[in-house]
Amino acid sequence: MTTATFSTQRVDPYSPPAEHLRLQQEDPISRVPWRTGGDIWAITRHADVRTVLGDTRFSSDRSLPGHPTNAGYTSAAHLKNLIEMDPPDHTQQRVRVMGEFTVKKIGAMRPRVQEIVEETLDEMLASGNSADLVTALSLPVPSVVIAELLGVPLEDHSVFQENSAKFTEADSPMEARMEAMDALKTYIAGLVAARADQPGDDLLSRQLAAGASPEELTGLGFLLLIAGHETTANMISLSIATLLDRPDLLQQLRDDPPLLPGAVEELLRYFTIAEVGGLRLATADIEVAGVTIPAGDAVFALANTANRDPEVFPDPHTIDFHRGARNHLAFGFGPHQCLGQNLARLELEVVLEAVIRRLPTLRLAVPFEEISFKEFGPNYGVYSLPVEW
Ligand code: HEM
Repeated sequence: MTTATFSTQRVDPYSPPAEHLRLQQEDPISRVPWRTGGDIWAITRHADVRTVLGDTRFSSDRSLPGHPTNAGYTSAAHLKNLIEMDPPDHTQQRVRVMGEFTVKKIGAMRPRVQEIVEETLDEMLASGNSADLVTALSLPVPSVVIAELLGVPLEDHSVFQENSAKFTEADSPMEARMEAMDALKTYIAGLVAARADQPGDDLLSRQLAAGASPEELTGLGFLLLIAGHETTANMISLSIATLLDRPDLLQQLRDDPPLLPGAVEELLRYFTIAEVGGLRLATADIEVAGVTIPAGDAVFALANTANRDPEVFPDPHTIDFHRGARNHLAFGFGPHQCLGQNLARLELEVVLEAVIRRLPTLRLAVPFEEISFKEFGPNYGVYSLPVEW
């Protein structure tokens, strides 16, 4: 066991922080200083990350003293929701809502997701021959998709979208973000109340009928928005930036369109953007690969480093669209594994297919080295992506 600095410095935008990769090789279960004070256990090997995320004695309850979730995220999630609950409450809520996110249910959304993507691209193309892809495509698509999932009426889409962009965009001042968050919560609470009065054929009405309380449902609605918006947007931007930087990869998809689902899966593994998904608090003394983590200690299971574990992914730093690896941890693992993963995959596939088909001349408007990456969590991504066509 060593005391490392746990630097999040990346050598290049394609690699997890070098320090984390070093720990995986030299000290895979180590105690390191944590950015909000104190120490945290850094778990960096694939097998050990699964052990931690699969054991709910490593608690997700962010209200517990000593929980390492960062302050911004905690305050944004103060309506207690699924992602910050432990069993039995978590199990009860999760089982109730799971049926809304099956492969079949999400598959039925494909035609509508396709329309949303085409309409967003129509607007982007009509605006000229250059754009910031983040604001023109990556943020609006998941925002509209979630609005429709929640049954937000068409006339409210723009308010919903404006506030979720304000809440999500990294350059929004904190005050504006908090205002947008309150506006969204109030809006979702109003939507839940309206569905309670007049049920329809939508997720909120079905959840109410299944016994969810209005408070719980407002928390869930807000969680779906924060969990499914910026994450998906970041993956859209990172995937397109990569294809534009690596014409060989883009060509593979042009030559072999059925490769797309495999490419999406590999890009998810490669970037593993959701850092916050790995933060837990030990509620008992628990042994992980021969090391006892004492009750009360904070734990960080680093899925992004685990997804580069050479024991599981041969040649892990190479992007290989033919890899066929479904055991990556980009959506987490265990009871909290991403509820919206089928939807995220669907959105990524539809967006990438449409961009490749409709924008044959798409290129970066700045050198790749000048793109500004979100290095400091909670999700990896890019702030903006200037492109032209
Ligand atoms: C590429 C996009 C996405 C990534 C990388 C991602 C990643 C993750 C990860 C790592 C977790 C586990 C968190 C933990 O263990 O604490 C998670 C949970 C969750 N995600 Fe996603 N997610 C994405 C998109 C979505 C979408 C589109 C939705 C829904 C609209 C969604 C809804 C959720 C929910 C509700 C949870 C909490 C599940 C629970 O605690 O039981 N996510 N996501």
